[in-house]
This record gives sequence, C-alpha cells and structure tokens, in this order.
Amino acid sequence: MTANTPADQAESPLPDADAAYWEAAAATFDEEPDHGLRDPGVRAAWAARLRSWLPAAPAAVLDLGCGTGSLALLAAEQGHRVTGVDRSPAMVALARDKLAGRDAVFIVGEAAEPPVGERRFAAVLVRHVLWALPDPASALRRWAGLLAPGGRLVLVEGRWGEAAPVGLRATELAALTAPLASRTELADLSAEPALWGREVSDERYALIVHADPAAGRRA
Ligand SMILES: C[S@@+](CC[C@H](N)C(=O)[O-])C[C@H]1O[C@@H](n2cnc3c(N)ncnc32)[C@H](O)[C@@H]1O
Repeated sequence: MTANTPADQAESPLPDADAAYWEAAAATFDEEPDHGLRDPGVRAAWAARLRSWLPAAPAAVLDLGCGTGSLALLAAEQGHRVTGVDRSPAMVALARDKLAGRDAVFIVGEAAEPPVGERRFAAVLVRHVLWALPDPASALRRWAGLLAPGGRLVLVEGRWGEAAPVGLRATELAALTAPLASRTELADLSAEPALWGREVSDERYALIVHADPAAGRRA
C-alpha cells in the first residue's frame, strides 16, 4: 500500500500534514488512481464532475494544495486559467511539468494564506487539503475573500478510513462554510466508484459554496 491517500495517513506513523511527508510523497503520488487520473474512466469521471462544479470557461481558478496538478490540468483542458499553490516544491515541479505550455502558473506557498496578492478568482478549488489545515475556519474565510463577485469555493473532502477515520464530515464542513455562503450544493461522491478507481464505503463528497457578498463585507 502506498502511504499517500488520506485513508493511508490514518494508519501511518508519518505526520499527516507535514511538509516533508508530502515532499517525499510527490514522486509516487500519481500512482493512486484518483491522484494521477491515468485511467481514462477515472479521468473522465473527474472531468465531468469538475465541469459541473466550475463556472463557465474561461474563468480564473485557484487550486490550493494542488499537488501534482491533476485537477489543474483538467481545468486547463476545459479552458480555465489556473493558478496552483502548494507548499511542496516537488509537487509544484511535477505540476509545472504536467501543465507545460498551458495557461497555468504554479507557486510554492501556503494554502491557508495563498501568495496571490490582489488577484481575485471565479473559483477556489481545494481537494483533500482543508481537513489537514490547523485552522480550517480561518482558511475558508481567507479563501472566500479571494473570490471575485459571484465566485465559489469548490471543496472536495471526505472522512476516510473505517477503524480510525480522519477528515471532515460533510455536515461539519457545511457548518463551517454556512456563514460565508449564499447557497451551497452538496455532491455525494461515495457512490461513484469511477472517481476512485474502486468501490469505496467511507464518506466522500464535494461542497460547492457560492459566496455571500455580504459575508465578505462583514469579515
Ligand atoms: C492529498 S494531496 C492533494 C493534492 C491535490 N489537491 C489533489 O487532489 O490531487 C495534499 C496536497 O496538499 C499540499 N499541502 C498540504 N498542506 C498544505 C499547506 N498548508 N499549504 C500548501 N499546500 C499544502 C501537499 O503538499 C499535497 O500536495
């Protein structure tokens, strides 16, 4: 078993949010079906989901904790301008290779405080990162502040594993995002094996959080 999925981290002695862990994991990260999206069926399943979650192309998409850039590549293929941020230089190097020649920029940096200056985005996309941040509520407020008017957060999360599950339940994440949202859509991803390359029995989902402009003014 490779130790590079959230479920694996629950069983691993390695610190799950440790930068050195992700730096070491980068070289083999894409071997998991839902990471590298090398299987055409898995790739097509994520492409379809992403198309339904993101705004109409072309839009500015910020992918935080972008890893090797697999979702960033799908977004770029769908016509979006992608900025990726990851604190692992090895992950960023792989993402830059994967999207060479595309309308995409990758930055080594902290997801909770993305180094994007005054830029604003139509969508902030974050898959399998939020649950491991030390202060998810604070990160969510920061990300909502990076949205252009009408923007949305696309949060792909889960609660992985059976014996000692890790992650955020959809209800927990919905409670955290409620103060920021004018409208939230929940997509249940557990029953779609094509996304994972296998059947899964734990909780996997996406929350599409349409930002409430009034929340931005209150922050
Ligand atoms: C489970 S991987 C997910 C990668 C990508 N989002 C995907 O779905 O394929 C987690 C990624 O988040 C990055 N990461 C973890 N904590 C981070 C932080 N605080 N700031 C920036 N990146 C972080 C790791 O380096 C790793 O690339």
